[in-house]
Amino acid sequence: MGLPQRFILVLLSIYLYSASVVNTQQEFKIQSVKLIIEPRNDVTAGTNVTLRCQATVSTSTEKGPIREYTILKNDKIVYTKTIGSSEDFVYQLHNARVFSTGLYQCKLDIQGDTKLSKAQRLNVQGLSQPVLHLEMNVVNEGEEVQATCIAPGEIGSFIFFFFDNDEQMSRVEGLSNQAKTTFRLSSGGIHKIHCSYKIRTAEDTFPSTKSNNVTVSVKELSITPVLKISPDSTIYEGDHLNISCSAQNFHSSSEGYKLFLSQGTKLLRTGNSTINHNMVAVPKVSEALTFDCRVEMRNVEKYTKKAISVVELFSVPSLTMFPTEIFQGEIMTLTCNSERFASQRINREDLEYTLYPSKNLPSSGKPGVFNVKALQNDFNYTCSAEAKGIKKDSKTLMIRPKVHVSALKISIEDKVILKKSITILCQSNGSLPINYTLFKDNVQVGTKVIRERNRQAVFMDVINKPGEIQYRCEAKNSLHSNKTGSSQHLSVNVIVPLSLMTLTVIPTPLAISEGEDLRFICSVNGTGPVTFKWYRTGSAVPLQTNTTTETYSSFVIKPVSKNDSDKYYCEASNGANKVRSENVDVQVLMALWKKMLIIVACLLLLSVLLLVASMLYIKSKRVKVDRAEVSVWSKRKPETESDDEISKMSNEPNVEYTEVVHARSTDPDRVPLRKGTDTVYSELQNSPHGAADPPDYVSNLHSHTHLQTSLVGLLAREHVSLFITVIIRLRSCL
Ligand SMILES: *[C@@H]1O[C@H](CO)[C@@H](O)[C@H](O)[C@H]1NC(C)=O
Ligand SMILES: *[C@@H]1O[C@H](CO)[C@@H](O)[C@H](O)[C@H]1NC(C)=O
Ligand SMILES: *[C@@H]1O[C@H](CO)[C@@H](O)[C@H](O)[C@H]1NC(C)=O
Repeated sequence: MGLPQRFILVLLSIYLYSASVVNTQQEFKIQSVKLIIEPRNDVTAGTNVTLRCQATVSTSTEKGPIREYTILKNDKIVYTKTIGSSEDFVYQLHNARVFSTGLYQCKLDIQGDTKLSKAQRLNVQGLSQPVLHLEMNVVNEGEEVQATCIAPGEIGSFIFFFFDNDEQMSRVEGLSNQAKTTFRLSSGGIHKIHCSYKIRTAEDTFPSTKSNNVTVSVKELSITPVLKISPDSTIYEGDHLNISCSAQNFHSSSEGYKLFLSQGTKLLRTGNSTINHNMVAVPKVSEALTFDCRVEMRNVEKYTKKAISVVELFSVPSLTMFPTEIFQGEIMTLTCNSERFASQRINREDLEYTLYPSKNLPSSGKPGVFNVKALQNDFNYTCSAEAKGIKKDSKTLMIRPKVHVSALKISIEDKVILKKSITILCQSNGSLPINYTLFKDNVQVGTKVIRERNRQAVFMDVINKPGEIQYRCEAKNSLHSNKTGSSQHLSVNVIVPLSLMTLTVIPTPLAISEGEDLRFICSVNGTGPVTFKWYRTGSAVPLQTNTTTETYSSFVIKPVSKNDSDKYYCEASNGANKVRSENVDVQVLMALWKKMLIIVACLLLLSVLLLVASMLYIKSKRVKVDRAEVSVWSKRKPETESDDEISKMSNEPNVEYTEVVHARSTDPDRVPLRKGTDTVYSELQNSPHGAADPPDYVSNLHSHTHLQTSLVGLLAREHVSLFITVIIRLRSCL
């Protein structure tokens, strides 16, 4: 065979090999896995239980693949088996026990392909009754007894309990279904012993029933403790006591025992035979003395107790002071005294008192009474009473000498204004508490107790009448001594708020002429000092400021000029308030010589005017005569009451009206008119069309020049009114 042929052969063999592998590879699919518990899920203990695992597997060949079954209980593997057939896998639980209770599952694994069945719960019920065995049925008190408790047929994790007359004695844990324990029965008589157990599973604990009762008869140990205390009559403090603790043994066996003697919780002595203890009786506050004698034999303990009360020989002394408050350097009396004493044993004179520290003044002679001078600072004293070798100390008495009040000061916080509340402060040095009393004009106003350091006594008061008031403070910090601190008198002037302000101007404000002195007088009610300020309205700067103790003040403008015409007011203030006057209007008139000058000038002007007017009049008369015509003036004059007309006209303000009234009144046919502007006005409208008007009069009226008419009218009718007007104007301008 050549090389190519060999190569082909190798290739062919590789191909054939791979093909054979594919052919022998079996194909399968696990369709389902099911767990069945037989005979049923809930069984009683002792039942033979079968866990049947049914699997449906589809395969490509007749012969099925190798199958691996696993049984799980509560997710833990219990059993695993591999089988080659397609039969159900069966797992037997012979004689099922409560411990078998749990959640079971079956798992099928074929060449790494696995399927888990649904879980099935197996419930096994019924624990077997425990059985108790005891070694002995008759024992001595304190002897050890061994007991065994068995849970027949059970498996699992156990806790065993042993009971003596239904009282639990011991407890044993283990995996075995039986437990041993030893115990001693401490009291004589019949004891009923039983046991029970519990089985613990992963999920739960199951208790068994009680076991049989086993009766044990206990023979009592005939040994008793004996406690003797002497003397057995009333025991007084300081008496010597003898206490003995022993055992009475009726057995009279040579067996040893041990004795213990205690007082309360304090172990006094131990011994193998009678114990004797000597002591001095000391009373216990609110408690009797208790002694305890105990005997111990074969792990059995017996005891007896006795309580005795001890009568105090004398009570604990108390230290008191008199007086109860003391000032620095003063003498006080300290008394040390035991209130009660046992007269059966001692006399009052047997008590000896001592004061600590013992730096005191010559003795008072009485036992327990000491004279002491109070120091400058706090001091602690104690005393003791002693009799028959017993010494008792008093409680500490702390003495805090007081300091008398001094440097008492009084002050007032605010301005003292009538009917306003004021605050008065009193303060002093000295021990607290200090009582302060305020007096107003020697009448008590109030009392304040100050308990904190650096505090002032604060009093409130209101003064309702003006004038001077005197305040005074008193301070007291001693109940017994009459020593009081008194402050200086504090005099205060009551400020009465300002009111009723008047501003007077002299001379009268409307009739003052230039050059005169203008005086403003401002006055108020209230108390001084008062500050007065004068203002011209519109200016915030006072013209003058005066502070005076009086309640009035004045301000003068000297001399006054026309420019000083204005409104003025004044303001007054004291410590209490500020008031303002009304405005006063001041009109400064022209000076008299100026007035005269103007009058003279006016008269001069008037006379010039009169002169001119009369000249014009004369001239016009001459013209009329020349023309030989009836003048308006001359024609009218005889007809009407010209004087009335004139006077009436002079009152009329409008000159034109005057003219029109004239035109009307010349009409002879007309009824004389009522006076009244409206009527006159209607006539005025009619007159231009009036057919009754005489033509000559009209022509007359028009033929005159205007100048003539007005001048004549002015001069003739209004010269009087004009003159009056001028005078008025002059006056007013003055
Ligand atoms: C349980 O099976 C055992 C043997 O496997 C047998 O001896 C016993 O009788 C069976 N118990 C019951 C209740 O069938
Ligand atoms: C007095 O005794 C009290 C306690 O009882 C103590 O606080 C104080 O400091 C003592 N005073 C003096 C002056 O020893
Ligand atoms: C101070 O005043 C209170 C109460 O008004 C009173 O009880 C106390 O005795 C007074 N103390 C003195 C030292 O006067």
